[in-house]
Amino acid sequence: MLNTSWTFIIGWIFLICRMNPVEIIKLKRNNYPLTENQIKFFIEGYLQGDITDYQMSAFLMAVYFNGMNDEETFYLTDIMLNSGEIIDLNFLDMPKVDKHSTGGVGDKTSLIIAPLVASCGIAVPMISGRGLGHTGGTLDKLESIPGFNVNYSVPDFKRIIKETGVVLIGQTGELAPADKRIYSLRDVTATVECIPLITSSIMSKKLAEGADGIVLDVKIGNGANLPDKEKSVELAKKLISTAKKFGKKAIAVLTDMEEPLGRNIGNWLEVEECIEMMNGSMIPDLYKLTNVLSGAMIFLGGKASGIDEGEKIAGQKLIDKSAYKKFLEIVKIQNGDVKYIKDWSNLKRGKFKRQVLASEDGFITEMTAMDFGYASIELGCGRKRVEDKVDYLAGIILHKKCGNEVRENDIICELYSGSETKLESGFNRLKDAVRISKTKPPERKLILDILD
Ligand code: URA
Repeated sequence: MLNTSWTFIIGWIFLICRMNPVEIIKLKRNNYPLTENQIKFFIEGYLQGDITDYQMSAFLMAVYFNGMNDEETFYLTDIMLNSGEIIDLNFLDMPKVDKHSTGGVGDKTSLIIAPLVASCGIAVPMISGRGLGHTGGTLDKLESIPGFNVNYSVPDFKRIIKETGVVLIGQTGELAPADKRIYSLRDVTATVECIPLITSSIMSKKLAEGADGIVLDVKIGNGANLPDKEKSVELAKKLISTAKKFGKKAIAVLTDMEEPLGRNIGNWLEVEECIEMMNGSMIPDLYKLTNVLSGAMIFLGGKASGIDEGEKIAGQKLIDKSAYKKFLEIVKIQNGDVKYIKDWSNLKRGKFKRQVLASEDGFITEMTAMDFGYASIELGCGRKRVEDKVDYLAGIILHKKCGNEVRENDIICELYSGSETKLESGFNRLKDAVRISKTKPPERKLILDILD
């Protein structure tokens, strides 16, 4: 009698040569490791149109349930990276550093960090994503600025970064095309929360853009794409080791995502909050996270002796408005309406509005980030199907944060949407998101750890 592991090995050897999409899905579904050639066949077949969206969705779900080992994750990343061009930025005589977040609610730091770090003489080539699952995306936020273009060819990408030291785009048909297609499918098929899929998605973009160093903001908490703390730490380590395998410097900052970051959730609302902060408003958690991540980038770019010194430089660039001036330069060169930005305090909001009020006196002990994320999708900030259009003026403004004292009927947050029905759904989604207690909760730590 053959024992189970021999049966497994013989079964795998028997199946290893199969190059039929259905058989590859079946292999992963039955928890066999895939070869480099099988992953290549599947990803390339998908990009060429030989493998359909429904087959890719089934494959992603099989990976979600059964995972991938280190080798498979490396092959997947490499194949996704090489599905497009890899940009060489060596013509820039300056350090090149980028940052990427694993995804959070109200997480808008990229919009401040990119211009801020560029204003320090470090080039920031940033390829970002759209909303993913219950988390928002930099591209949707940027596109809430009328005219802002996130689709550039490689020559234009190089021209823009040469002129301004920074460029913010999305995956294109030329740059990380596999991630472009797979990312939008994962968004609507509940296949986001998976270490190999997150690693290959993030790293295929970050390795294509030509940066020498990458700072990774790995979120931990109910609003993160991996709510489990151990899994988030594993993801941070995997991202760093993948970056190093490809010869890049990397730092991972582990940060709390139990409550939404900052005050605003929603595409334009988040841009507005960033503009406010770049013009001197103090939003404590957003300010802290922006400074630490920028500090780590300034350090990786060799312009500071450590993250602490980098943080001080970052704080200065916010105060002297260098970050804001660079932000306006980006908007202008990427075809965005600068007048719309300068007019930001003219409060652009969805037509319909509702408030969530405190049900009793006490202290706010919980504002569940995940619920706020899903509520924002209900309001129209994200997608439920690939082809959905987002509502740029929909969103949520938080008047209170965890730890704040409230009186019964105080406004906790305001919800906006262009549709009355969506407003109602968003409101209903928030019913259990806020908890109030008579005792003040201990202060939460925002920066949980830094790994390199
Ligand atoms: N950001 C990405 O680019 N991809 C993911 O899978 C998660 C966050």
